[in-house]
Amino acid sequence: MAAERTFIMVKPDGVQRGLVGEVVSRFERKGLKLLGAKLMQVSNELAESHYAEHRERPFFNDLVSFITSSPVFAMVWEGENAISIARNMMGKTNPADAAPGTIRGDLGLTIGMNIVHGSDSPDSAAREIALWFNESLADYERAVDVWLK
Ligand code: PPS
Repeated sequence: MAAERTFIMVKPDGVQRGLVGEVVSRFERKGLKLLGAKLMQVSNELAESHYAEHRERPFFNDLVSFITSSPVFAMVWEGENAISIARNMMGKTNPADAAPGTIRGDLGLTIGMNIVHGSDSPDSAAREIALWFNESLADYERAVDVWLK
């Protein structure tokens, strides 16, 4: 299978709690390759586009308020099966249901502030990467890639 790309974001609670390094470290140690990363303040427009599919859900306004309340750390990661691997590493959406060993299972408490977002399909990954990263992504080889096949 070809390498996949996925969009991952440390949400405002993760940035405020000093968990950016912890989240990045987990994906690095897994073997995924970092192609882009930036700390940014999210506009209402970007938040509403990103979460457009949830527009009719009762928590939509809270979600937009939360994601625009303080900076997020946006990233693109690449690797074999990167989308499902990253989702598994994040754990279930509600930290109360997320298994120990996952990011939300180890570090989260409530569904409103669940530390990370990750694309849930190839289509959403392509859409989210295009939405969040106008700039070109890094294009490089790693010597370690021969040990990650
Ligand atoms: S998922 O992973 O997309 O299937 O999860 P889903 O339940 O559809 O939730 C979509 C995003 O909405 C967030 N969410 C909430 N925020 C605040 N309050 C409540 N009650 C709530 N329920 C769900 C959830 O964290 C998902 O955010 P992202 O950033 O996509 O992970």
